Amino acid sequence: MGWVRLSYFLIFQCLLLHFPSYNCLLCNPHDKSALLQFKNSFLTNFSSYVFPSDVFCSSYSSNIKSWNNLTDCCGWDGVTCDIRSGSVIGLNFSCSDLRGELLGPNSSIFSLRHLQQLTLAFNDFSGSSIHSTIGDLANLTHLTLLNFGMTGEIPSTISHLSKLEYLLIGSIDSLLNDPIKSYSRMRLDDYTWNRLIHNATNLREIYLEEVNMSSVGESSLSLLTNLSSSLLSLFLFDTQIQGKLPTHILRLPNLQKIVLSSKENLRVELPNSNWTTPLRVLSLYDIAFSGYIPDSIGHLKSLNSLALWDCNFDGFLPPSLFNLTQLSSLDLSYNKLVGPIPTQITKLSKLWMLDLSGNMLNGPIPHGCYSLPSLWDLDLSQNQLTGSIGEFSTNSLRTLRLSNNKLHGNFPNSVFQLQNLTWLDLSSTGLSGVVDFHQFSKLKTLFYLGLSHNSLLSLKFENNFDCILPNLQYLYLSSSKVSSFPKFIAPNLEVLDLSHNRIRGSIPKWFHENLLRSWKNISSIDLSFNKLQGHIPIPPNGVEIFLVSNNELSGDISLAMCNASTLSILNLAHNNFTGLIPQCLATFPSLWALDLQGNNLYGSIPDNFSKGNSFETLKLNGNLLKGPLPRSLAHCTKLEVLDLENNNIEDIFPYYLETLPNLQVLSLRSNKFHGVITSFGTKLSFPSLKIFDISDNYFTGPLPVSYIHNFQAMMNANDNQTGLKYLGENNLYNDSIVIVMKGLYMELTRILTVFTSIDLSNNMFEGEVPKVIGELHSLIGLNLSHNRITGTIPLSLGNLNNLEWLDLSWNQLKGEIPISLTNLNFLAVLNLSQNQFEGVIPTGQQFNTFGNDSFVGNPMLCGFPLSKSCNELKERPPCSTLDKEESGFGWKVIVVGYACGMIFGIILGCNVFFAGKLQWLARLVEVVLNVRLTRTNKKNLIPMVG
Ligand SMILES: *[C@@H]1O[C@H](CO)[C@@H](O)[C@H](O)[C@H]1NC(C)=O
Ligand SMILES: *[C@@H]1O[C@H](CO)[C@@H](O)[C@H](O)[C@H]1NC(C)=O
Ligand SMILES: *[C@@H]1O[C@H](CO)[C@@H](O)[C@H](O)[C@H]1NC(C)=O
Ligand SMILES: *[C@@H]1O[C@H](CO)[C@@H](O)[C@H](O)[C@H]1NC(C)=O
Ligand SMILES: *[C@@H]1O[C@H](CO)[C@@H](O)[C@H](O)[C@H]1NC(C)=O
Repeated sequence: MGWVRLSYFLIFQCLLLHFPSYNCLLCNPHDKSALLQFKNSFLTNFSSYVFPSDVFCSSYSSNIKSWNNLTDCCGWDGVTCDIRSGSVIGLNFSCSDLRGELLGPNSSIFSLRHLQQLTLAFNDFSGSSIHSTIGDLANLTHLTLLNFGMTGEIPSTISHLSKLEYLLIGSIDSLLNDPIKSYSRMRLDDYTWNRLIHNATNLREIYLEEVNMSSVGESSLSLLTNLSSSLLSLFLFDTQIQGKLPTHILRLPNLQKIVLSSKENLRVELPNSNWTTPLRVLSLYDIAFSGYIPDSIGHLKSLNSLALWDCNFDGFLPPSLFNLTQLSSLDLSYNKLVGPIPTQITKLSKLWMLDLSGNMLNGPIPHGCYSLPSLWDLDLSQNQLTGSIGEFSTNSLRTLRLSNNKLHGNFPNSVFQLQNLTWLDLSSTGLSGVVDFHQFSKLKTLFYLGLSHNSLLSLKFENNFDCILPNLQYLYLSSSKVSSFPKFIAPNLEVLDLSHNRIRGSIPKWFHENLLRSWKNISSIDLSFNKLQGHIPIPPNGVEIFLVSNNELSGDISLAMCNASTLSILNLAHNNFTGLIPQCLATFPSLWALDLQGNNLYGSIPDNFSKGNSFETLKLNGNLLKGPLPRSLAHCTKLEVLDLENNNIEDIFPYYLETLPNLQVLSLRSNKFHGVITSFGTKLSFPSLKIFDISDNYFTGPLPVSYIHNFQAMMNANDNQTGLKYLGENNLYNDSIVIVMKGLYMELTRILTVFTSIDLSNNMFEGEVPKVIGELHSLIGLNLSHNRITGTIPLSLGNLNNLEWLDLSWNQLKGEIPISLTNLNFLAVLNLSQNQFEGVIPTGQQFNTFGNDSFVGNPMLCGFPLSKSCNELKERPPCSTLDKEESGFGWKVIVVGYACGMIFGIILGCNVFFAGKLQWLARLVEVVLNVRLTRTNKKNLIPMVG
């Protein structure tokens, strides 16, 4: 998507290239010395920062270093003089590797009073701002300041520049995607904006990017009508303007280009009528519209670029759109458009770019799409398109994306005639037939090939002769029934995805050779979910993502792995690896996800986690690890998930982890942890913890009150959160966690951030249930069963409004069951069995749904649902309202549980799924909630007593 903006930069570069340059004979000595002074102030300050200069700076850069006192300054790189006077009137320092305070208070540029054009672009301003002296350059007509790291207030004196025609100011840090270098934004306030628009009445182009203009109101924007005779282009990228853009701005009589984006609150309404302006470019994105794209768009007869993406439009493509025969690019992606793509698309014969992806368009792809004579880029991915793919009769196509549709029919062989194709994505299309992979070697420029998730398609690989793909960098063949390692030569390969296939046996030698020697740029390899055997393939240095989980690989994790210190995700889970965990893994500086679960690794966990490491997820569960926990885990300050479940770790409670600010999931279940848990007085211990599972260990003493007291993240239910969010949302690695519900072990393959639970069961805790537990308002599951807990249920438990399951069974609790528990509206599972409770079981609300087994083993308890009635309360009306069929965990409860308590609903949906009933519910769970629930490996399935 960045390409839209990119293309403006490219256009902008053309401007740079065509900057007028005169060579005069004698330059003004004052100006010369000012320029030399400017140069000298940067001698030690040339940037060492690596810009994406190959993208932005390849076609233009001015070399200030070549300026020399002995030559005429009018001939210097980037300098333009007035022919008669020899005064410097133009300066262009773009891509000049300059760094620092380019326009600070003492900048000698400000003494060049004759300046008309000043261009400073793609340099590193690193937190410096524009000094108010800029207002002294009264003859400026062109001012371009698009740099990295610009900050501060745009000075109000900018309004003195009454001759300005081109004003381009902005920080372009977002292009770098480098969070480390993010300075606070530049600001342009309402007062300065108003004075500028009043005074600079010749403005032809306004371009503001990442400038905070939140104080500029609707009436101030309205002032742009003052510029109605001059303004040709208006670009406002990410300017934080609040409120509404006055609609008449879109009607300005001379406006040719308008580009607006706003992640914030800018509202825009497209005119419904009388919209006949000479607009050539209309680009609005990230703006919250609603409703249809108005038919009036068809009045913009001069339009040649229309982009309305991420704008939330719905309805059909307006028929008038196809009257815009001058259109060369049309981008309506990320909207909610419905209906078919009209066949009139052929009228747009000048299109070179057509992007309708991410809508809900249906029907077949019109044949016109295959023959548009100038089309370079066709993206119809992520729609509901049906029918087969026709044969292409245009040779111009560079990128073709049809993924995620409901197409069928054979793979379109005419694709192999598209000699210029660089990007081909036909993943999840539903295509069938046999494709000879060698055919792709006809596409010499192919750079991206995506054929994943086509279960009906079979790819044929001839391993006898080589398939050469000289430019291929991305190859996605996941879930495409590949049964052996495909042989091909692709020296530039960066990403290879062969996951979820049927590849068996050990990894061939030649593949290893490629991995270690031929693929010099390889950065991501996914071989997970196959049937690979033998030794682990060794990732070379440079690899960032290496995924071989869910195979049958065995042997040790080779120390050769230590070479791959560039790794950021390493997933070796669910194989048969044995031996020790290589110490070096703890020292990889970028490794944030390490998943070794479900192997037979033994020995102790490396104790060399260094300060400042990147670990966010450490999953070592389901191994045979021993020994004490390494204290250096306390250095993992970014850690979110620590799962050590199911090992043989013998230690006391790791109190030193309580300071980890981001730890959300801590599972020590089924180990040999022991001793009394005491907090070491950190004020905010475990501030982010949401899942605390220390069940099935040998802990003794009282329940860990001081921790429970401090679980901040379990106290503040985030009721405002809309939609479902998952922990560590990432396409390449999802955090998973096993939870225990009703004696079943289930794996949540993605962790919802709303999921909060405490499991202290199967230990030797004693003493009472602390009252303070009632403050954990967001808690969804609480399991204290199989301990030696005494006393009564604190009334405060009735405050846990979000609780969906509560298990206090197999303890020594006594007294009556508090009525307040009937207020827990989401409670779907209650187990109070095997205690010393007495008196009458409360009735009403959720309690009417619990069965006998929730209460058995309490000899002094009486009333429904137990068969033992409470004689002294005979007068009480019998529970006639209760339908027998509603009791127990029947149908209705499932629905209630689903509708009320989300988490339990999901889990029950899983049970139901496995029982083969109510598949609609399971589907709903999978599709709507995007959660996949599986039972974990059999070896982990230890049924709990009770
Ligand atoms: C440039 O050269 C002149 C004459 O040779 C000399 O006076 C002046 O100081 C030099 N300027 C700089 C900035 O080196
Ligand atoms: C600014 O432009 C005006 C009109 O072109 C001219 O008369 C004046 O000399 C210029 N000022 C400077 C400092 O160049
Ligand atoms: C308008 O421009 C003129 C000429 O540069 C300047 O003298 C004046 O101060 C400016 N007015 C404002 C309000 O900035
Ligand atoms: C549209 O134009 C017509 C004729 O020029 C005029 O009468 C009408 O008021 C205009 N409507 C709007 C909404 O501007
Ligand atoms: C397309 O343009 C023609 C000629 O201007 C006009 O008659 C027709 O109504 C337009 N079609 C649509 C759908 O707006």
